[in-house]
Amino acid sequence: MELLEAIRLRKTTNTPFRPDPISDEHKRLLIEAAARAPSHFNSQPWRFILIEDQTRIRAMAHIAEDSMRRLMDDGSFVSRYRRYFRFNPKETAKTGSGIFIDNIPMLLRPLVQLVFSDRVGMFLSKLGASKLLGNDQRKIIEHAPMLLAITLDKQEYRPGELSGLYASITLGAVIQTFWLVTTALGMGMQFISTPLEVPENRARVEQLLRIPSGYELVAIFRMGYKDAIVQRNTIDWTSSQRKPFTELVHYNEWGTGVPHSLASARSILWEHSRAGNPAETAPADGDRRVEHPAGASS
Ligand SMILES: Cc1cc2nc3c(=O)[nH]c(=O)nc-3n(C[C@H](O)[C@H](O)[C@H](O)COP(=O)(O)O)c2cc1C
Repeated sequence: MELLEAIRLRKTTNTPFRPDPISDEHKRLLIEAAARAPSHFNSQPWRFILIEDQTRIRAMAHIAEDSMRRLMDDGSFVSRYRRYFRFNPKETAKTGSGIFIDNIPMLLRPLVQLVFSDRVGMFLSKLGASKLLGNDQRKIIEHAPMLLAITLDKQEYRPGELSGLYASITLGAVIQTFWLVTTALGMGMQFISTPLEVPENRARVEQLLRIPSGYELVAIFRMGYKDAIVQRNTIDWTSSQRKPFTELVHYNEWGTGVPHSLASARSILWEHSRAGNPAETAPADGDRRVEHPAGASS
């Protein structure tokens, strides 16, 4: 697969994988490719744990289920993340960001916006939303052939200090490499952040994986080969939309839009996308911040 195609097709896989184990060649390729990422002074502060042991995968699935339920029941999931939820295509297109809840049981459909509002969310959570989401988390993780945990050396990863910022930057480069290589191999991956958001459960995971005190667990993913037949989660979302080019970029100084020639340049990334595939839809052209020839602000 071409690099640009992998970049265009990369997406979060929030559906089950095929049960097949990941080949040793592919595991090795993933780690060796990730290790090509830049790091400050070539410090390579990351260490990886490939988890294929079924007992540990099941334990992680239960910890994730418990985490999701707790975060929903105490309202923190909703209050922390509500601003990212979109409930209809119009809102999704208008913002060009967030996650669009496009799959939800009939029963909850009229209530969907309420489910994700603070106090009502907590109440409805008790009625079943947290149970549904928790079950989905557990099921999808326990059937994954492999989990990947990423840790950072605490000598480098010091939040609040410059090395903490640099360690976060190299972590991002590593994760994007994993994402692109999995895409190229017909695999998928999904972030599992809930266990790291509940301090007690984070400690349980660290213990389960025997992470030494000098390393910080910073990310967990599920990985596997993509299944052609996709069975969606009970409550599910899509997030392929992106903000338009002209909204993302300033020219020479903050607040000045790009020249017309740049705004209307051919899109090499999107010109080969297959029409009709929503995951391959180019962001809508925005004209919000295009500089006018006379220098008038747009
Ligand atoms: C730091 C971080 C945490 C994330 N946590 C989760 C998560 O817990 N569960 C999940 O399904 N996706 C998670 N994601 C994936 C994002 O939701 C996803 O990248 C975004 O919606 C864009 O969708 P795409 O990856 O399909 O393009 C996370 C991504 C990042 C960078």
